[in-house]
Amino acid sequence: MKIVIATNNQNKLREAREIFSPLGIEILSQKDVSVSVNPEENGITFAENALIKARAVYELIHLPVIADDSGLCVDALDGAPGVYSARYAPEHLLCETLLENMKDVPTEQRTAKFVTAVAFIDENGREITLEGNCPGIIGFEKRGTNGFGYDPVFMYGEKSFAELEPEQKNAVSHRGQAFRKLYDYLKNHYQQEEN
Ligand code: IMP
Repeated sequence: MKIVIATNNQNKLREAREIFSPLGIEILSQKDVSVSVNPEENGITFAENALIKARAVYELIHLPVIADDSGLCVDALDGAPGVYSARYAPEHLLCETLLENMKDVPTEQRTAKFVTAVAFIDENGREITLEGNCPGIIGFEKRGTNGFGYDPVFMYGEKSFAELEPEQKNAVSHRGQAFRKLYDYLKNHYQQEEN
């Protein structure tokens, strides 16, 4: 089975391939299907934004499409940056900005979670959204060089997400969970259609 992923983010494309290819699903990029869209993400929930991205691609190609919208919700910041995670600061300053805004927050109040909503639209235009989340702690400094975005300051146990190998991160991450829920849904969805 082939599914197009509605993203221009190479890291998300890589993570989606790492998660779905062992499951026998081929993930095509927007480039693979000659589509270039970058819709305004003006939803107020992760699920709304994921649907906006998936619809923008589906309307052009009418093939199965997935899109995800993710972000970091920090308790001490009342859930910020949340759906505004990408716009919190320039990409290379996301971690520094977060650390600066939390410099006076003690360890026990540094709880946070990564959230992913994934939207799927099938070839007939039927839509669903599913969510995954991963709790952690915001560290006091950047650690590790893997991953992207806020990974170096997101502590999962003793290690930051940026210190984990890709498959270790995928096994526990918000995106890994949401994508695996989607895989379970797809298995049922297409098995039922076959019967
Ligand atoms: P979006 O889902 O492309 O809108 O991404 C939202 C923001 O959250 C981006 O700035 C990413 O850097 C950040 N983000 C999303 N997923 C992750 C992750 O797995 N690790 C670190 N940062 C992430």
